[in-house]
Amino acid sequence: ASKARTAYVCSECGADHNKWQGQCAECHAWNSLSEFVVEPASAAKGVAASRRASWAGKADAPAVTPLKDVSHSEESRVSTGIGEFDRVLGGGLVHGAVVLVGGDPGIGKSTLLLQAVSHMAGRLPGLYVTGEESLSQVAGRGARLGLPLDGVHALAETGIERVLEHAAKMKPGLIVADSVQTLWTEELSAAPGSVSQVRESAARLVRYAKETGTSVFLVGHVTKEGGIAGPRVLEHMVDAVLYFEGESGSRFRVLRAFKNRFGAVNELGVFAMGDKGLKEVPNPSAIFLSGGSTRQPGSCVMVTREGTRPLLVEVQALVDASPLSNPRRVAVGMEGNRMAMLLAVLHRHGGVGVGDQDVFVNVVGGIRVQETAVDLPVLLAVLSSLRDRPLGEGTIAFGEVGLSGEIRPVPNGEDRLKEAATHGFKRAIVAKGNAPRSGRVGDMQVVGVERLSDALSEAE
Ligand code: TYD
Ligand code: MG
Repeated sequence: ASKARTAYVCSECGADHNKWQGQCAECHAWNSLSEFVVEPASAAKGVAASRRASWAGKADAPAVTPLKDVSHSEESRVSTGIGEFDRVLGGGLVHGAVVLVGGDPGIGKSTLLLQAVSHMAGRLPGLYVTGEESLSQVAGRGARLGLPLDGVHALAETGIERVLEHAAKMKPGLIVADSVQTLWTEELSAAPGSVSQVRESAARLVRYAKETGTSVFLVGHVTKEGGIAGPRVLEHMVDAVLYFEGESGSRFRVLRAFKNRFGAVNELGVFAMGDKGLKEVPNPSAIFLSGGSTRQPGSCVMVTREGTRPLLVEVQALVDASPLSNPRRVAVGMEGNRMAMLLAVLHRHGGVGVGDQDVFVNVVGGIRVQETAVDLPVLLAVLSSLRDRPLGEGTIAFGEVGLSGEIRPVPNGEDRLKEAATHGFKRAIVAKGNAPRSGRVGDMQVVGVERLSDALSEAE
């Protein structure tokens, strides 16, 4: 006799627990567990048993095979028609891949995917499953964008059983589920949108994709806390996780590969949202510089290199006397804990204290910098704001700052310096290990420093 087992799944990290508890034992998040009904074990066993039975005596039963004898082919890829999207996917969409596209509501996920589905329809007939918009809204958007929609079918449906029935009949090459949060299965009593519903519905789609070789895009909204609802849970199940980022006021959007089985992680694609939808920005290297403000106090330009190309971005800091006994530390576009650590190093090894000041740091353009090369630019921007003196004109910086006040080199220094020189920057402050012996790259002077105190005096 089989009974459905109840598990409790953490919406932050996806860990399973046998009983409900206030805090996840794995990731220590509070109130993140929700109920999840696990399929009766016997059903799964039944399948395995019947599979074994059907293999018995057959020559093609799965066998242990020397890996070198297994025939394989390069994954075949289809272009999405948008170069920057292809770049983030690792060179186009792989057949049978399941890709999660996450981002804030309104950032442009539906727009991007409709454009891509329309372009790929010739090679991969698409099924656009919408749970949020009506069919006429989707069609209307397609028409407004001037997209050819031959070969694209749409379905307004949220029940995963019916979605898969339709898919089985139509046999599309590509399914878009917009959004995965609206999907639900009859097999669970939990409310649609709950972690268990999202996880189970996504799992069904993933299974379908792997069994049939269909490619799938899952659209996921990011919650206020910054994760896709039931976030980590989905990340494990899919082949690639792409996050769409951007500032609401800006028309630029950045798509980042957070995980990718078929390409480089942290690859960035840059788009601009216009009245004809999303356009790629193939040479984005300087679009995140905010015009004249780099000559203001509290600003430092850095060269980040996440993915495979360098990008100039501006780091801003505002340091101001705090009325609070516990001054504020706010970081936007970089990790808050890292900023707190950097301020401690600035005090201990740079002799610059901001203990009685509010400190705000912002990476311009809604972009997130996740690499440690941001350390030195943050501290130079903080110092510049505190002293109310701009950094020298045309100065850039990058480098990791260690807890003992040392400045460490970062990967691809040469590449970054060349990019800055190309854009007319005159002076770079970087780790000694990143500076060429000649002290120059093109017309740009490169100052290599070993200690934070040296970097600070170079900047003053
Ligand atoms: P959408 O793709 O619906 O976002 P998501 O699916 O991530 O919620 O994009 C919605 C926003 O994009 C909306 O604010 C309008 C804007 N937009 C344009 O500026 N130009 C366009 O051509 C389109 C289709 C949308
Ligand atoms: Mg949408």
